[in-house]
Amino acid sequence: MLSPGVSHRQISDIAGMVFHVKRRSLLSGILARSQAVTVAAPVSRETLTPMQESETIEQIDDTPIARAAQAAVQALGRAGEGLPRPSATRVIVVANQKGGVGKTTTTVNMAASLAMHGLRVLVIDLDPQGNASTALGIDHHAEVPSIYDVLVEGKPLADVVQPVVEVEGLFCVPATIDLAGAEIELVSMVAREGRLQRAIQAYEQPLDYILIDCPPSLGLLTVNALVAGQEVLIPIQCEYYALEGLGQLLRNVELVRAHLNPVLHVSTILLTMYDARTRLASQVAEEVRNHFTTEVLSTAIPRSVRVSEAPSYGQTVLTYDPGSTGALSYLEAARELALRAVGQAGPAASTQAAAEALDAVGQHRHTIGAQASPVAEQSTMEGNR
Ligand SMILES: Nc1ncnc2c1ncn2[C@@H]1O[C@H](COP(=O)(O)OP(=O)(O)OP(=O)(O)O)[C@@H](O)[C@H]1O
Ligand SMILES: [Mg+2]
Repeated sequence: MLSPGVSHRQISDIAGMVFHVKRRSLLSGILARSQAVTVAAPVSRETLTPMQESETIEQIDDTPIARAAQAAVQALGRAGEGLPRPSATRVIVVANQKGGVGKTTTTVNMAASLAMHGLRVLVIDLDPQGNASTALGIDHHAEVPSIYDVLVEGKPLADVVQPVVEVEGLFCVPATIDLAGAEIELVSMVAREGRLQRAIQAYEQPLDYILIDCPPSLGLLTVNALVAGQEVLIPIQCEYYALEGLGQLLRNVELVRAHLNPVLHVSTILLTMYDARTRLASQVAEEVRNHFTTEVLSTAIPRSVRVSEAPSYGQTVLTYDPGSTGALSYLEAARELALRAVGQAGPAASTQAAAEALDAVGQHRHTIGAQASPVAEQSTMEGNR
């Protein structure tokens, strides 16, 4: 039996060939569908009745290969369009202390989508697991210069940035296992919450986006990210416990905003692993949209095997299978993100309101007293895995 990678590559190759041979008919097919007009298939048009013509198109479009090629055409067409360049670097913290909700997947695929639109994007892997580094094909064994050296040793960011080979304009600061000790090492350091912020401010290369992939906790690493960023992107998995713990994250964002970083706000919420076949997914999506009226992107990321396979090949889904639904969804989500203004009206107020609403429905009953160093107090709190 073929391994998934071999099988996928073969399908891609075949899809490429089919694409060249049938490009005209496929494009006709796409146009025909979008305009609700029946267009003839590329075979002896004169000999077919209109009914036979439309059946032929159905046959061509309905094979898996033709569908893959068709989706690839659409995806690549979109990627070439270009997106607006922000006036200043947007630093986006991808956070949710709940584990396995799609933080890393979202970080790398959004970053790749933005870079494929011609923007310059840096991914900072701030999770000792190093999953974002793996997904971008960046070596992150213990000796590799990494974000640990930046945070703990004070090394310049420029010394640890690596280009992502597969995607032009995309760069990565890897995380190694050393980072696991950084939470403890940072505790005794001066201005421990602002070390990443200072490193980013000192980085002189022009960038349009910096995406920071946080670990599943609200410790000092996440606090460093929140202090360094302007925006928070929260991926929410469409499952039963989706909103549990979210109030805590929102309160931490509020604490950091109040004490350390006045521009910080939750700008974006992305629904991930959405399974349209289940009522639960649509109920969760509806509930999230009720709580966060302006922040939720209209694009939800579907559950997709291609998305979960891509990291094992050191790739994002954008390069692994550009025509897949996962790739298309991330392209669309990145597009929405880029087209949104940085400073949406009243983001802080709406975050506060959402946190209060979550408390009100009895899902989140955490007490955060007014402490002398509230962020530091919060920093020991571990999230769910
Ligand atoms: N849209 C999707 N479809 C299918 N699988 C997905 C999708 N998004 C993420 N996954 C899979 O779900 C798992 C968790 O995703 P991911 O690692 O991105 O979450 P995370 O929030 O970064 O996790 P952690 O909290 O451990 O850092 C991974 O195995 C990933 O491949
Ligand atoms: Mg992760």
